[in-house]
Amino acid sequence: MTRYPISVDDLSVCPHHLWNKQSLILTSGDFAAGDYNAMAVGWGSFGTMWDRPIAMVVVRPQRYTYQFIEKYDTFTLCTFPPEYRRAIDLIGTKSGRDGNKIAEAGLTPVEASTVAAPIFAEAELVVECRKIFRTVYEPSQFVDPSIDRNYLKKDYHRVYFGEILVVAGIESYARR
Ligand SMILES: Cc1cc2nc3c(=O)[nH]c(=O)nc-3n(C[C@H](O)[C@H](O)[C@H](O)COP(=O)(O)O)c2cc1C
Repeated sequence: MTRYPISVDDLSVCPHHLWNKQSLILTSGDFAAGDYNAMAVGWGSFGTMWDRPIAMVVVRPQRYTYQFIEKYDTFTLCTFPPEYRRAIDLIGTKSGRDGNKIAEAGLTPVEASTVAAPIFAEAELVVECRKIFRTVYEPSQFVDPSIDRNYLKKDYHRVYFGEILVVAGIESYARR
């Protein structure tokens, strides 16, 4: 896939559709060390915090990826063309604990430009992030108590903000 550098100011996405319908692949770890894992994410956002461009992701503690995003300083987010829907769903239903789901999905991890976590050769959009903040959803803070229905196992998401360091993508992701 040919991707071009995109200034964060020019990144153009339909946020709710991107996260909730299209989904992304979150990858954390160290590509050079061969120690990384990936999962699908559908809840999160791109925005601004502390004057910095950020990506927010939420990870339940039982995900294998949780161990990587806790241990390592960087993560990446990637989107894929529509024909990779099955691959995203596979990465989002199988666990990296149980085998090489990345190879099974037909995805090719490659070195990112600035961070240790890998990106994917097949990605249409790549966002490289440095972890700058983490917290845990605290149920006592759910102003709308119905939110708690998402946590029948009390597996409250861990929330991570990554400072966006680099964005690259196909032309349609750049503001014209
Ligand atoms: C479309 C889609 C979106 C998902 N979004 C999230 C999410 O935002 N946070 C989360 O913790 N799990 C999410 N999941 C579930 C994980 O991707 C899934 O449990 C995955 O198998 C975890 O893999 P791992 O154990 O290798 O980390 C999503 C799954 C799918 C299919």
